[in-house]
Amino acid sequence: MNFKTRRINACAYSCAMLTIAMIAFPERESGAQPPPPPPQQPPQQQPPQQSPQPKNPPGFGAALDGLTGPQQGAWRDGQDQFKARMNPGNGLGPIFNRDSCVACHSGPAIGGSSEINATRFGKTTGGVFDPLIALGGSLLQERALQPIGVEVIPSQANTTALRNTQPLFGLGLIDAIPDATILANVRTKPVNGVLGRAAMVTDPVTGKPAVGRFGWKAQQANLLAFSADAFVNEMGITNRIFPLENAPNGNETLLAAMEPPNVPIPNDQKDPRTGKAGIDRLADFMRFTAPPPQQPANASTTFGATFFMQIGCTSCHVPSMNTGTNPIAALNNQTVSLYSDLLLHDMGTLGDGIAQGNAGPKEMRTAPLWGLSASGPYLHDGRAHTVDAAIRAHSGEATYSVNQYLKLNSSQQSLLLQFLNSL
Ligand code: HEC
Ligand code: HEC
Repeated sequence: MNFKTRRINACAYSCAMLTIAMIAFPERESGAQPPPPPPQQPPQQQPPQQSPQPKNPPGFGAALDGLTGPQQGAWRDGQDQFKARMNPGNGLGPIFNRDSCVACHSGPAIGGSSEINATRFGKTTGGVFDPLIALGGSLLQERALQPIGVEVIPSQANTTALRNTQPLFGLGLIDAIPDATILANVRTKPVNGVLGRAAMVTDPVTGKPAVGRFGWKAQQANLLAFSADAFVNEMGITNRIFPLENAPNGNETLLAAMEPPNVPIPNDQKDPRTGKAGIDRLADFMRFTAPPPQQPANASTTFGATFFMQIGCTSCHVPSMNTGTNPIAALNNQTVSLYSDLLLHDMGTLGDGIAQGNAGPKEMRTAPLWGLSASGPYLHDGRAHTVDAAIRAHSGEATYSVNQYLKLNSSQQSLLLQFLNSL
């Protein structure tokens, strides 16, 4: 790929780096044994996959339980940065999508999701995706400090996709899952057509390979990298990890004409009192925000959980993984009930056509299902307004599982949906 030097910074967010990432671990499941057909009678025993309920589940958008005083302070301070409306004087733009993180990540609490979509574009030729970097791709910035800078989808683009805003609750726990734990979910042989592949990306923080886990395409490996990426690409705030501005549709002359004078470069500077820049505070906020509250299990959700397992949803939506050893007690050896393997899967017609990070056009990261009751609309482009519609749109590697779902009768489906809404 032929980047102009200026453009390299936006690359981690927007360009396709289809490097090889087939990291295979020995098959853990003993052969491709088909699961039993869905039970007709509610089973008697408690399904083993049900995660233990926290004693005092905090509400949406609360701080993690068990933080120290200074950690709570860092969470509050980070939340201030997350809510702060930026302006041209402190680096907003010249092109951007919104002026704060919370503008998109707002419901049902600060750090949540919204119906706001981002737009990606590129050009697909013979199945190969070109993010049209020289023309400002693949992320569209739909606002600008001056109207002349507002990006348009260039005529060369023949592929566009909407991206639904994801909720950020509990991301510190996901951040703390060791790479090896995610890699252990990779299969060498498909089970009911499900394989899964780790998204090996280059971490812009360290410059080293790491397992991508955040974003619909698992395009970023950690919270600091995503904060820096979102700061520059959604808000136009350059920072120490991504120091270069995006030019409107790639027009560097226009960018130079639009840059407000006397703004520090990069825009995001460390506060000498704390040693932290905005991106560090944003990462702190997300690191210390609690996972979504889960509803206590009841008879219906217990049956629903059994169906979820038996029809193969758990092949991808792995109920939990554990964090490793962590200096932060609240993140140390914790169970993370995220309902995802954090791997990429070929989703067939549900793929969004965009290659990004290590993900190909048809590959998507298994969406975590915790907090589902409050995160709609669903799927990468928000096309599904109900959980049922989201399930029915699964394709590719999930074909077996969705067919099993369609074979359940309506009361069985309803139990499954009640379970999903309790997560
Ligand atoms: C214009 C709306 C918008 C703004 C503003 C925005 N985001 Fe997002 N955010 C999104 C969308 C859309 C996604 C899904 C990205 C993707 O994978 O394409 C997302 C995804 C994320 C994720 C990944 C979540 C996950 O579960 O993997 C993080 C982390 C994140 N945003 C943090 C931030 C931070 C921090 C800011 C402020 C600097 C911010 N976002 C500003 C729309 C926005
Ligand atoms: C092959 C892996 C795979 C299997 C099997 C699978 N899913 Fe998914 N699921 C995904 C992926 C990948 C996504 C994200 C799709 C996208 O980006 O649009 C997803 C998204 C979802 C969503 C929407 C989440 C959101 O936040 O938008 C729901 C709900 C869901 N799956 C439920 C299920 C259920 C129920 C089953 C079993 C019938 C199932 N899935 C089986 C991979 C899988």
